[in-house]
Amino acid sequence: MTYETLLVEERQQVAYVTLNRPTALNALSAGLRLDLKRFFVETQGDRGIRLIVLTGAGRAFCAGADIKEWTEPRSIVEDRQERLRLNFWDAMSRCEQPIIAAINGYALGGGCELAMCCDMRIASDQAQLGLTEVTLGIIPGGGGTQRLPRLIGRGKALELILTGRRIDAHEALHLGLVEQVVPHAQLMGVVEELAQTITSRAPLAVKYAKEAIVRGSELSLEAGLKVEAELYTLLRATEDRMEGARAFKEKRPPLFQGR
Ligand code: CAA
Repeated sequence: MTYETLLVEERQQVAYVTLNRPTALNALSAGLRLDLKRFFVETQGDRGIRLIVLTGAGRAFCAGADIKEWTEPRSIVEDRQERLRLNFWDAMSRCEQPIIAAINGYALGGGCELAMCCDMRIASDQAQLGLTEVTLGIIPGGGGTQRLPRLIGRGKALELILTGRRIDAHEALHLGLVEQVVPHAQLMGVVEELAQTITSRAPLAVKYAKEAIVRGSELSLEAGLKVEAELYTLLRATEDRMEGARAFKEKRPPLFQGR
């Protein structure tokens, strides 16, 4: 797979995806959005890719929408059509593989929303995050008003979105917006280790664990528990479940096959 604005490298069943517009701080141009859309559509159901790592080239993860592309005012209809054409968020939200954001620098506006659309966020100690849209006369349009309160609570989300305030990685950790903060030079090493640990586990167990959490987070506890029970039962019938138990008894690492 080759792209104009993304670098994609596959190593040990992990796709390392780098937003590659460093001179524009990886702002989400129309081209970058289309590349992301193509990547997530093409990766759907690719059993060779077990996990995705998203990061940015240079000193930013992503500085949000490409503000320089905002020139002529468009009609509401044209704007809707354009948003639909460039919409990569839906394909990304439906992605079966876990996605880790390696936040290497600025993650602002749509860049912060991109990180929030990932399943886990590991930040460099140099990262800065924020939903800065109100400073530009708009509101977050890539899921920020919905994902931020779900991650950090309504009051704090309102404070950050209504002020457009940027926060550093440590405050983001304190708020629960990122899972870990690591020294900048160690970021990719830490993320790679996390990716390798996850991909060493039983493939179907990892897939269904993500599915149970993602589907369940939109449901009542009762309905979520039913989803979990259904997926748990499916896993009980897999060869990997038998292999896991055998390996435990034989005191050796399991050899999972993904069946
Ligand atoms: N769009 C287009 N170009 C951008 C950009 C963006 N979002 N952010 C930075 N750039 C460009 C700059 O214009 C500059 O280009 P030139 O060298 O050609 O002038 C280059 O990247 C480097 O940026 P700066 O010189 O500004 O670097 P800095 O270190 O002084 O500041 C920054 C860095 C604080 C991130 C600053 O660039 C900034 O505030 N950028 C805008 C961030 C932002 O508000 N993003 C939200 C966009 S709205 C949105 O995302 C809507 C949505 O929900 C989808």
